[in-house]
Amino acid sequence: LTAGPGWAEEIRRLARERDAVVLAHNYQRPEIQDVADHTGDSLALSRIAAASDASTIVFCGVHFMAETAKILAPDKTVLIPDARAGCSLADSITADELRVWKAEHPGAVVVSYVNTTAAVKAETDVCCTSSNAVEVVRSIPADREILFLPDQFLGAHVRRETGRENLHVWAGECHVHAGINGAELTARAQADPEADLFVHPECGCATSALYLAGAGAVPADQVHILSTGGMLDAAKNTTRRSVLVATEVGMLHQLRRANPDVDFRPVNDRASCGYMKMITPGALTRALVEGRDEVHVDADTAARARGAVQRMIEIGR
Ligand code: 13P
Ligand code: SF4
Repeated sequence: LTAGPGWAEEIRRLARERDAVVLAHNYQRPEIQDVADHTGDSLALSRIAAASDASTIVFCGVHFMAETAKILAPDKTVLIPDARAGCSLADSITADELRVWKAEHPGAVVVSYVNTTAAVKAETDVCCTSSNAVEVVRSIPADREILFLPDQFLGAHVRRETGRENLHVWAGECHVHAGINGAELTARAQADPEADLFVHPECGCATSALYLAGAGAVPADQVHILSTGGMLDAAKNTTRRSVLVATEVGMLHQLRRANPDVDFRPVNDRASCGYMKMITPGALTRALVEGRDEVHVDADTAARARGAVQRMIEIGR
């Protein structure tokens, strides 16, 4: 499963032969991040997929990300090195469940996190990622009722930031981020009072981070609720010697590269996403040699989902 000598050169050669661009999410294994043409958060990678000239996109990430690329670039071949790389958050709502929820709130605007299936996106008015969720909700007239799904912690964060009382939140969660708990965060923060806290809004501990700041246990300016891309920008500019990071541990690779002078430490070093780690060097090689696993989204679903995804990449530029 590890990358041997000459592997990166081989990947670059195979990608050239296939006219492929290799994209890697910030949670990918370090060797996959290092060999990719672009690494980034889900919003940045969607934008790159939509704008790329390459005829093939190899998406090193999870299935909903590759599907989103296919919705944005239907004429391109989209490959994911292992189609079994799913997402517990995307699995937490089905299109049928969403249709029932919509029927209970006629006229509500449906805002779906990008961590959803194409079928759920097809029932959605506007998608968002953790980098632009607040801006997406602010772009909706204040008197409109909003259904926000599927992540309850991101939903709670957006409701706090926007003050929207009429925003209903689905009770889904990501097993990795929900597992980073408030008690752990509190203990870590108290052991290192000088450290900044970078907290992904999908975390179950996001509320604790705010509570800590509100209660004065940690100065408010040391708590930052950020997407993975936002963490990278903040890492480049921080003046702190140490930063506690509450998200999937793959993120630490990019953070340490962005600012080697800072000691970046995980709040929970077991917070690893098994789906993201299914994209191994061997799987990437196979994808480029054999041209699989190819991602398909049926034309009708893609057509109904496209507007919501396009609005997502337009907001928060
Ligand atoms: P972002 O890259 O948008 O912060 O998303 C995090 C995530 O959990 C994707 O699976
Ligand atoms: Fe899904 Fe969570 Fe893994 Fe992200 S970290 S891909 S939200 S299961």
